Amino acid sequence: MNTSRQATGKAPEKAPEKAPEKATVRAGSNIAFIKYWGVDDATLNLPQTNSISMTLADAYTTTTLEWLEEGQAATDAITLDGVPLDERKAARLVRHLDRIRGLAATERRARVVSQNNFPMASGIASSASGFAALTVAACHALDLNWSATRLSAVARRGSGSASRSLFGGFVEWERGHDDATSVARQLHPPDHWQLYDLVAVVSGAEKAVSSEQGHQLAASSPLNAGRVASLEQALHEVRTALAECDLRRLGPVIEQDALAMHAVMMTSRPSLLYWQPGTLEIIQAIRHWREQDGVQAYFTIDAGPNVHLLCEAVDVAAVQARLGTLASVQQIIVSQPGPAPLQLDEHLF
Ligand code: DP6
Repeated sequence: MNTSRQATGKAPEKAPEKAPEKATVRAGSNIAFIKYWGVDDATLNLPQTNSISMTLADAYTTTTLEWLEEGQAATDAITLDGVPLDERKAARLVRHLDRIRGLAATERRARVVSQNNFPMASGIASSASGFAALTVAACHALDLNWSATRLSAVARRGSGSASRSLFGGFVEWERGHDDATSVARQLHPPDHWQLYDLVAVVSGAEKAVSSEQGHQLAASSPLNAGRVASLEQALHEVRTALAECDLRRLGPVIEQDALAMHAVMMTSRPSLLYWQPGTLEIIQAIRHWREQDGVQAYFTIDAGPNVHLLCEAVDVAAVQARLGTLASVQQIIVSQPGPAPLQLDEHLF
């Protein structure tokens, strides 16, 4: 079965004879308010539930991709943050390029240079921005004039959360029931709400278990079914809070889902424990600041120890200053809602 054909439910399309061949794209990462954790179909990357996120303006990947003439190279050449990737490290990206080659009916190999503007181990999802930028650059360079929805389905195959980075602002990824229906869509544009994401970095160490492996363990937790059953209501709450720009309504729901996801992780077999002591220090501090001092900031945590704090403009300086007093906080990265992937005229090579 040619699974890459299924990515959009359409037959391969021959790229136009005079393709532009080279494209540079900048795509923002995203922070999930309702998390994607657990797959129904690991090959197609079909999630168990919908998820909702905010695309980030200030944490992005820039990727230049050039398709080489047929026969010019036997393999793809990929450089990430200045380091040429060996075969093992490049494998997941090459598999994604293979999907795009299958969809476009081309055998051409690619030269790829990709740069993150944030440290890879910062707790900001580089796979989301990385696979979104790679997908859009690869398709633009082949002059494939695909819609953002179609590109979202293709990006999803590379990394689930990348499907959401195809859109700017506030985004929902529909669970869907097959390869073409599991796509993201924009709920609100970036200027709908000036919400800030402050990432408090407590550890730069690479995680021992990847999200890719973790998604397959979710079903082994006795808590997974409970989380999935409660999500319909949580998704509704988040959609309403976003529509009304109501942080006091949004905050408690995103905190609960982050904790529910980590409870699933911790109780999977084998157990996944992404937290460090600093993670708990920040959770307890933020609760205290809210209760004692009325600081309106709420946390969420991805598959790692670093904590994202969501707050509005009036509280950014206070939250930043308070985070700076915690012993475990090594670095703070601040971001606002960002745009859909942008095509740039300047290339990285
Ligand atoms: C905890 O999208 O990184 O950040 O599809 O294997 O690349 P792959 O997984 P990935 O998983 C995201 C997990 C999460 C929650 C989220 O972003 O929704």
